[in-house]
Amino acid sequence: MARFEADPVQGDAPADDPAALAASWLPGPDEDPMRMVVATIDADGFPRSRTLLLSEFDGERFFFHTDARSRKVTDLRADPRVSLTVLWPDFSRQLVVQGTALPASEEELSDAFRRRSPYLKQLAWQNTFEYARMPLATREATWAAFREEHPEPAQPAEWVGYGVRPHRLLFWVANPDAASRRVEYVRTASGWERRYLPG
Ligand SMILES: Cc1cc2nc3c(=O)[nH]c(=O)nc-3n(C[C@H](O)[C@H](O)[C@H](O)COP(=O)(O)O)c2cc1C
Repeated sequence: MARFEADPVQGDAPADDPAALAASWLPGPDEDPMRMVVATIDADGFPRSRTLLLSEFDGERFFFHTDARSRKVTDLRADPRVSLTVLWPDFSRQLVVQGTALPASEEELSDAFRRRSPYLKQLAWQNTFEYARMPLATREATWAAFREEHPEPAQPAEWVGYGVRPHRLLFWVANPDAASRRVEYVRTASGWERRYLPG
């Protein structure tokens, strides 16, 4: 397991800047984005989770994008409280965020759509109930026909984005030579409070 030369959780975490710490952990805009588990609260009060791309961290908010007709959007319209769990693929790090998910602005949304890969632009159009019901061969043929007709798909009206403003961040680092440890930041009226936790 990788050992980090500068291990912020084991001693050097900035006292008041979890955003800088998150930015130093997360990939840059031209790198493969992280995947994260996003938990919402359903109408019965149960947590409901699924994996999404962490499209961007802009230094303040964690963004994800999805379809306005999805269950997560139904949940968020009723209750914007969320939890995000970002797990590094080698299991060396974990970032857990609690916060409030608010819709991205029109400008943020169109910027994000412009930067998406051709595959994800098309996916934004074809992630429908009607498409999901088709047999595999029809799905593939429909996909190929769409790509032929729309080499540059426009931004669909149902494509939406949310930015999560955190009030709590937990950074966890594994250490093969000692216990893993976490550093927690909680937003207060006077700034961020930091403390170290076991686990
Ligand atoms: C690795 C991975 C990445 C995914 N990324 C997204 C994403 O960025 N946006 C999205 O709407 N769905 C994404 N999905 C699909 C979601 O997990 C989920 O099935 C879908 O959004 C419907 O969720 P809901 O019914 O809870 O709203 C991804 C799935 C996986 C496994």
